[in-house]
Amino acid sequence: MAELTRRLFFALWPDNQVRTRCDWYVSSILGKRIRRIPADNLHLTLAFVGSVNDEVSRCLEAQADAMQLTPFKLSIDHLGYWHRQRLLWMGPTHMPDGLWELVTALRDAFDSCGLPQERRAFQAHMTLARKFTAALLAADAPAIDWDVGSFCLVQSVNTDNGVSYRVLRCWTLEGG
Ligand code: 2AM
Repeated sequence: MAELTRRLFFALWPDNQVRTRCDWYVSSILGKRIRRIPADNLHLTLAFVGSVNDEVSRCLEAQADAMQLTPFKLSIDHLGYWHRQRLLWMGPTHMPDGLWELVTALRDAFDSCGLPQERRAFQAHMTLARKFTAALLAADAPAIDWDVGSFCLVQSVNTDNGVSYRVLRCWTLEGG
């Protein structure tokens, strides 16, 4: 029998206030015509795990349990576009130390749990739209302040209506 796996990733999951502000910003620049990421799906990926079995996800959770990290402030103040992927995103211009520490701790956790190490440099971004044509866009960058006090392990589930995300567990950043 095929082993049961789940497709997982660690992410910053916006609270309702930040989510609403991000969604308002996205609709203000894209309007209703463009297919964009639904508000409920907006997130900032910290580390993409991929499809793993329960043993690996338990290992990652234990690693996250042991982390001692501090909350930080994130300013979402940049609108970006990656031509190759045709991906529209927003993110912070400045990477706070707390975000680096969190990403580094998660990359170390991957190592401890036998997962392949992410070789690409971390680029903090929240995807707004895929298959996007940049010529459609002429917008100012947003200015959204986000007090980051937790991070989450999220499952990505493919449904008939597209991808849906299930937050499995969150950890509070409460001091180092
Ligand atoms: P993206 O928005 O830049 O495409 C859930 O799929 C999240 O994991 C998305 O934020 C997505 O980033 C990211 N993701 C999906 N596949 C990935 C991969 N192979 N490597 C890194 N991140 C990935």
